[in-house]
Amino acid sequence: MRDTAQTSDIAPLLLGWYDRHARVLPWRVPPGSAARPDPYHVWLSEVMLQQTTVAAVKRYFERFLTRWPDVATLAAAEDAEVMAEWAGLGYYARARNLLRCARAVTAMGGFPETRAELLALPGIGPYTAAAIATIAFDAPETVVDGNVERVMARLFDEHTPLPVAKPILTAHAARLTPEVRPGDYAQAVMDLGATICTPRNPACGICPLHAPCAARAAGTAARLPQKARKAAKPVRFGIAYIGQRADGAWLMERRPDRGLLGGTLGWPGTDWRDTIPDEAPPVPADWQDAGAEVRHTFTHFHLRMSLRVAHLPQSVQGYFIAADQFDPSGLPTLMRKAHALAAHHFTPQ
Ligand code: ADE
Repeated sequence: MRDTAQTSDIAPLLLGWYDRHARVLPWRVPPGSAARPDPYHVWLSEVMLQQTTVAAVKRYFERFLTRWPDVATLAAAEDAEVMAEWAGLGYYARARNLLRCARAVTAMGGFPETRAELLALPGIGPYTAAAIATIAFDAPETVVDGNVERVMARLFDEHTPLPVAKPILTAHAARLTPEVRPGDYAQAVMDLGATICTPRNPACGICPLHAPCAARAAGTAARLPQKARKAAKPVRFGIAYIGQRADGAWLMERRPDRGLLGGTLGWPGTDWRDTIPDEAPPVPADWQDAGAEVRHTFTHFHLRMSLRVAHLPQSVQGYFIAADQFDPSGLPTLMRKAHALAAHHFTPQ
């Protein structure tokens, strides 16, 4: 911190701002509430918010709560039901771990309250453990996500690029975490990052941390945090086979639990590789090129998946989903897009 203001000013300034401007979100209680939010709500929202925007999460969060109002009802759900309700949120390992965690928490009789105990649960890493401990139980833990990193890089005018800067920014965040209202403080930093200290065009003029912010004083806020250049993502190619029998049933597959889209329902297909695959189709049939390609970006590569379609004889053996059981909204986005592009090759049932 340059000499503009004391670091001890920061938490009170931010809490005062949060009292007036906290976002109203379905998993929250209002700032300064005597009541704590339900740890089930905090946990579910934090797992959903990993890699996904607040705007997208709201709908899913509300749908999950309507269907599974507490952790015990979620623990009793079928895996396939949860995967279908999660469809479209991506990063499906989160949904599988969500169920494992719900079952572990239910067996324990409720959520543990400390960061260390939370960390021992399936799918709960350091970020989520700290977020639940502080938001649900008001423990003075430091929560560091991308928003918090950006706010810290700017407050302290830190030019070391991420990810090398991570421990430096985490240390700043830990030093600022107050003993008083740490749960509200954690959410206040997130809200500041989401609404004022935004990646582009930060609204420094209305920022409650205008005075103590070193990057604002230096005129460098919009350039921070610096990030190391990422390697370009490679392109991979695959083929998906969309086949339907005369009775309307679709040939599908449930992917193995491990790996990309693990545990989700979709179209059988080739592996995804650097060159166009030439392996045999999943079942023999008169497969035709659908003349369409799905493009989808995963964390580590871009996928170009071409589509083959066929009307399958009733005698074909395989995993079929009956027409009245088929619901494209329960498929991961990639597979839903594939269906949408191929649907006109089939007569509606
Ligand atoms: N992003 C991640 N967790 C959040 C929370 N609790 N509130 C707002 N944004 C968030």
